[in-house]
Amino acid sequence: MRARGQTPAGQHRPVLVEEVLGALELRAGQRGVDATIGWGGHAERVLAQISPGGQLLGLDADPLELPKTEARLRTLGHSPEVFRALRTNFAALPAALAEAGWNDGADFILADLGVSSMQLDDPERGFGAKDEGPLDMRMNPRRGSSAAEWLAKVSVAELDVVLRKYADESDAAPIAEALAVGEEAPATTSELAAAVRAAVQPRRNPEEASHAVRRVFQAIRIAVNDEFGTLEMFLRALPAALRPGGRAVILTFHSGEDRRVKKAFQSGLRSGLYESIAPEPLRAGAAERRDNPRASSAKLRWAVRATIQ
Ligand SMILES: C[S@@+](CC[C@H](N)C(=O)[O-])C[C@H]1O[C@@H](n2cnc3c(N)ncnc32)[C@H](O)[C@@H]1O
Repeated sequence: MRARGQTPAGQHRPVLVEEVLGALELRAGQRGVDATIGWGGHAERVLAQISPGGQLLGLDADPLELPKTEARLRTLGHSPEVFRALRTNFAALPAALAEAGWNDGADFILADLGVSSMQLDDPERGFGAKDEGPLDMRMNPRRGSSAAEWLAKVSVAELDVVLRKYADESDAAPIAEALAVGEEAPATTSELAAAVRAAVQPRRNPEEASHAVRRVFQAIRIAVNDEFGTLEMFLRALPAALRPGGRAVILTFHSGEDRRVKKAFQSGLRSGLYESIAPEPLRAGAAERRDNPRASSAKLRWAVRATIQ
């Protein structure tokens, strides 16, 4: 199944694993944070490299998947002294470090942005057009408004901006008019996909319409989870969360994310908070792109906290 570029149900294939480990320069005894632990694919490899004596704090906003990942890592032999899971948004990174008692920061911090395969594959989460399900799209379905509730209230003008800014959608205006119709707005994944296809159908062939559907799902997901607001809070907190010489690695999957990470790292370098940053993003090679389609859009950027404060 993996050889065919597919991910087994209930799992997530981590991307750019060797590149992440290389950029983190891990050593036994270090302590650090996986801010988006997901299935724990990166975490498993990180834990192997920081042992013996290392500690990993795994964060995730998702209350449904995190307990499964914690249980999985425990069965692999990682005790609570070595690995701790904390359900929190990574925007609250300083509070998470305080809760761990790491008041002088971490040696490394990793973030692999976006959604996991488990979230995408669960029809009840409503993240994708592939399966019929309620339009939810929340990383934490126990907090805030679902995508359906958000769509039922959004104005045409606001949705138009969201589609342009978060997904570079060139047909934003007709799509926004079709979707922002109050109580009549799509409430399921298939209703949303059908409404987008109908709105772009006069100008797009079926393949282009599918791209538009994917972009609209992405834009609504970003809005519902305030993904750029939380990423910016995380990026602001990052330098102070690292010990001198500590390393941060961030994996992004679209231009809105990558632009923010690049700007924050460049500005930290200029102000002396970071002593070095990735000159260019690292990308997956042809073999990984073939084996794991999700790797195609991944970009890895790293930054090193200045040793002289
Ligand atoms: C791409 S997956 C991470 C996969 C992970 N690296 C692995 O190897 O399994 C992204 C994860 O980040 C979580 N996430 C997204 N935004 C978040 C946020 N603002 N705070 C905390 N977790 C977040 C999602 O719930 C999801 O589990």
